[in-house]
Amino acid sequence: YEDYIENKVYESLGIRSVLLVPLIHKGKVIGVLCIGSKEIIEYDEDDLTFFQQFCDQLAVCIENARLYNEVLTSKKEWEETFRAVSEMILVVDLEGNILKYNDAAKDFFQLHLYKSEKRNFHQLLSIDVHNSPVLKMVQTKKPVYQEIHFQKRICELRAYPVFNESQHIYAIIIYINDITEKRRIEAQLVQSGKLAAIGEMAAGIAHELNNPLTAILGNAQLLLRTADDRSYKLLSDIYSCGKRCKTIIQNLLTFSRQDEYMFEDCSVNEAVEQVLGLIGDQIKKQNITIQKKLDHSLELIEGNIQQIGQIVLNLLINAKDALEEMDIPKKVISIETKSMTEDGKKWILLSVQDNGKGIEEQYLQEIFNPFFTTKRPGKGTGLGLSVSLGIAQAHGGTIEVISHPGKGSTFMLKLPAKQ
Ligand SMILES: Nc1ncnc2c1ncn2[C@@H]1O[C@H](COP(=O)(O)OP(=O)(O)O)[C@@H](O)[C@H]1O
Ligand SMILES: [Mg+2]
Repeated sequence: YEDYIENKVYESLGIRSVLLVPLIHKGKVIGVLCIGSKEIIEYDEDDLTFFQQFCDQLAVCIENARLYNEVLTSKKEWEETFRAVSEMILVVDLEGNILKYNDAAKDFFQLHLYKSEKRNFHQLLSIDVHNSPVLKMVQTKKPVYQEIHFQKRICELRAYPVFNESQHIYAIIIYINDITEKRRIEAQLVQSGKLAAIGEMAAGIAHELNNPLTAILGNAQLLLRTADDRSYKLLSDIYSCGKRCKTIIQNLLTFSRQDEYMFEDCSVNEAVEQVLGLIGDQIKKQNITIQKKLDHSLELIEGNIQQIGQIVLNLLINAKDALEEMDIPKKVISIETKSMTEDGKKWILLSVQDNGKGIEEQYLQEIFNPFFTTKRPGKGTGLGLSVSLGIAQAHGGTIEVISHPGKGSTFMLKLPAKQ
């Protein structure tokens, strides 16, 4: 007896005889039953058989309890996973009554706001029962895919059948994924693809139109020299309309950047002066004061003066248009140049400010889009800013805008100075 350390325990408890019976499950000892007595007892065969049978039962019970715990844990694990999956999952019966749902589904459909007996999948999504993916699936016994709309969101829905042992569908698992954001990005890609296509097409058309237009303008000019009073008016009309077409074509070509320009050292101040020389008078005629504040120590940039001039022209015309219908005592356009250093890099800034009608918040995102215009047909082409931004970007720069509706706008062109 000295060999067993258990003896010490028995001794301290005053136990004098013990019977040890193994608990055996599937041939493996999973425990031992100890029966002890404070008297000295001789256990006989009968006792042993009784306790062996008892232990067999006990072993089964212990094993069952263990299995039960195992099942419970894995059930809990599975439920946790189900709850926490970021896709929405609903389990519904064949009538569409929602039996189970996860957190994502609860949050999306606000399921906690419904009384449990009212939670029906068809009602929730306002789906016509005759067109129900659930019923469709029950009929075909195949998974179903469908797109649904729920409160302005676009969702993709997949339904999978759950079969019981006798291969009957008894429930349906419905997976729902909110794809609104995905769709929006896809649409944006399509849109920018379309714009690229428009640009390419426009460039093609512009090239085609350029030659006949040159002929029209040239011939009109020739005829104007010998024209009488009546035809002079008509011919000048032809000539000015032709000119306008040419400008539009030029804009289109610049926009699609199909025409190559030489880059050389050029002065933004000079571009401003050139443009003011062109349209300064036209602006002043409309009772607009032009305030010019040019920094004469401005560095040069590497670029194309015609293109920079085109930006200035577009910004000035827009400012003039913005002032047109305004009923204010003093209409002012300020044009200013200066330089600044940012992150160790020198930049040239040109700003064109007006106290015109301003731009409404909702349009700010769109004004640089080609063909976006708020002006009446014939007046605006919606190309000015998109062309200008294209040029600025080709020069390594940007255009930014600050605007207060009813008060005015400031457009700022920012170009890298020549190193
Ligand atoms: N200075 C400005 N003040 C108010 N609105 C402006 C100004 N500049 C541009 N916009 C708005 O941006 C739009 C797009 O301008 P733009 O691309 O030059 O095309 P367009 O002048 O042909 O309409 C204009 O229609 C106008 O609504
Ligand atoms: Mg414009």
